[in-house]
Amino acid sequence: MRIKIFFLAVFIFQFLNSFAQPRYKAIKAGKLIDVVSGTVLTNQIILIESDTIVDIGPSVKIPSDAEIIDLSKSTVLPGLIDCHTHLTSEPSGDYYADLFRKTPVDYAVLAPTFAKRTLEAGFTTCRDVGAAAFVDVALRNAINEKKIPGPRILAATIFIGSTGSHGDISGFSPYLHWQMPENMSGVANGVEGVRKQVRYNVKYGADLIKFGAGAGVLSEEESVGAPQYTQEEMNAIVEEAAMWGRKTCAHAHGTESIKMAVKAGVASVEHGSFLDDEAIRMMREKGTYLVADIYNDDYIMSEYKRLGYPDKILEKERLVGKTQRESFAKAVKAGVKIAFGTDAGVYPHGWNAKQFKYMVQYGLTPIQAIQAATVQAADLLGWTAKVGSISKGKYADIIAVPSNPLDNIQVLETVSFVMKGGEIILSKK
Ligand code: ARG
Repeated sequence: MRIKIFFLAVFIFQFLNSFAQPRYKAIKAGKLIDVVSGTVLTNQIILIESDTIVDIGPSVKIPSDAEIIDLSKSTVLPGLIDCHTHLTSEPSGDYYADLFRKTPVDYAVLAPTFAKRTLEAGFTTCRDVGAAAFVDVALRNAINEKKIPGPRILAATIFIGSTGSHGDISGFSPYLHWQMPENMSGVANGVEGVRKQVRYNVKYGADLIKFGAGAGVLSEEESVGAPQYTQEEMNAIVEEAAMWGRKTCAHAHGTESIKMAVKAGVASVEHGSFLDDEAIRMMREKGTYLVADIYNDDYIMSEYKRLGYPDKILEKERLVGKTQRESFAKAVKAGVKIAFGTDAGVYPHGWNAKQFKYMVQYGLTPIQAIQAATVQAADLLGWTAKVGSISKGKYADIIAVPSNPLDNIQVLETVSFVMKGGEIILSKK
């Protein structure tokens, strides 16, 4: 009798076990880009236990029950990181409808699709820098809880801007009002006002703080260069965010606004279109990252008229596009820290990797461009311990492409394999 029970127990155990995922996965990588040393290694084995990389090297012992993933004909690299996305929006084709007929609920419905597209394009982490009504927090949480697929998200929540700024809605009748809870618009003024807004954002889930140091392109206020906060206000935002353990990034195209944001101590300048030598020197001295969305101009100039954007906005883009790329080249040459960020959401989600081509064209070597989207980006996020390289102890966020991106960076535009946290998201033969 006892023997029978024993065999029955063994049978049940084996039966249940046959449904269990193997504990280990082993990736055989033909080529592997070691983004930390900037070299290409060959015939590496990456051993993954659950969601973590536990070993890597040419002669790692593979446990007998491991699932083998053969990428011996591919080039393997860490999952990519985009430090400037808006996963909760994308132009629908009608500028005024987007502004006046939609609510954050419309975007919340679409956000999971945008997140999935981004992940399937090889971007396993995003720093999402501006969303309405905490949709980004909901998206981040649902992804973390594995309810929907998507990249790891660091969420900035509501963009903080002054009255009439890039973060406000300008150019319409003063009788036009939106009714929403105080602070939900992100429009905040004065030292007390901006401090309160930072607290509000943190209270409802912000991982970092984003504010508008200067004017914008895709908004109807005048000028794209002018500062939109005083030095005192910017200092207060950065200081308040730091008090809550949050980094800050600043939207800034204009020279003066860039310098003020750098002085205030932001972790990164977004866009950075009009950089002069002094701004570059200041960024170098302070170790401020430049996150420049230098693919965007192509898409805006070819599509935004059709999408119903007013001429005023297209005019501003004409001022910014080329200069921004030249500024980027100058910054690269001077040794400013660069992190990859695209402003996805201005163009269709999932096209993030199109920017690599421009980063190489404007001065980075292919390995530096990849580092900007991996190790450097992880450093900017403060997530070096978790992501950004294929190293022991980090999440198994791993992608592959059919040929070596150091020979042609554009192969990153079509990835053939994506793994996030040990889970295979995409695998094309
Ligand atoms: N969100 C940015 C803005 O409205 C987009 C700028 C796009 N243009 C560019 N050349 N990067 O200011």
